[in-house]
Amino acid sequence: MKNETVGIILSGGKGSRLYPSTSSISKQLLPVYDKPLVYYPLSILMLADIRKILIICSADQLELFKNLCADGKRWGLDISYKVQDKPRGIADALIVGKEFINKKNVCLVLGDNILWGQGLTGMLLKAKKSLKGARVFSYPVSNPEEFGIIKLNRKGQIIEIEEKPKAPKSNLAVPGIYFYDETVADVASKVVPSKRGELEITDVNKFYLRKKKLDHLPLGRGYAWLDTGSPESMLEASNFVQTIEHRQGTKIACLEEIAFTKGWINKYQFKKQVQMMPNSSYKKYLLKSS
Ligand code: DAU
Repeated sequence: MKNETVGIILSGGKGSRLYPSTSSISKQLLPVYDKPLVYYPLSILMLADIRKILIICSADQLELFKNLCADGKRWGLDISYKVQDKPRGIADALIVGKEFINKKNVCLVLGDNILWGQGLTGMLLKAKKSLKGARVFSYPVSNPEEFGIIKLNRKGQIIEIEEKPKAPKSNLAVPGIYFYDETVADVASKVVPSKRGELEITDVNKFYLRKKKLDHLPLGRGYAWLDTGSPESMLEASNFVQTIEHRQGTKIACLEEIAFTKGWINKYQFKKQVQMMPNSSYKKYLLKSS
């Protein structure tokens, strides 16, 4: 398909800040409340109508990811896998995924990012549409020195982007959800390691900015963007998901529900999957809609 956008979830890294929880299992396979963390970035891609997905993980976790997600057919997806043998940096995902991207537009999602809010689907579809270069989201944070940060001019256009600046010029962080045109793998292969020895995604974005091809969509107060690097942020994310799900009686990142609602699996396939699930609150929830 000519205008198809493919998706990459970067789920490597050592998760060292979560040691010892991550000694034998990847952070993205740990639970955030009632489902594995990787379900959340998967749901972001699904809501953006992106069905061809590459999961990049470390070699020792490959079988575990395959056990969990398989080929993705049960969610109406086409999932494949690639190994990142060393955490060389986020931009490395675009090099590892070069063949997979195969000159299509791509949405890269970091495996530890959770995004929730009213109108999210519309926002994601908007981000995918009429892309001319690269597109990121922006989100106000209280700790800008920990993220990629953008500075805007009066017209709201990006004029600067910096990775974890010591003296941030704004509080607008760039979440780990990036949309790129078909040339991004070549751009990423020109990036050189930063002082901390990583291929920075911010350097890929800087390249597009220099070409005046980097724009952004602001995520306002109605959105929650969480990244889950530390024990505290994992707990906060779990509490957040639990609170919303309990209050509303709906689930965040319930992949079977999204696939069924989008018509990617039919009622029969949906019901059959639910029947096969072991007794759990997840099954109970899906039984209500099947
Ligand atoms: O979360 C958004 C932020 O993500 C952006 O604002 C920053 O610009 C961007 O650099 C990144 O910063 P982090 O410090 O949060 O990135 P971190 O090194 O924690 O990596 C994010 C995820 O990507 C994490 O789940 C591990 C995975 N990862 C990371 C690297 C460097 C890999 O799978 N392979 C890697 O080589």
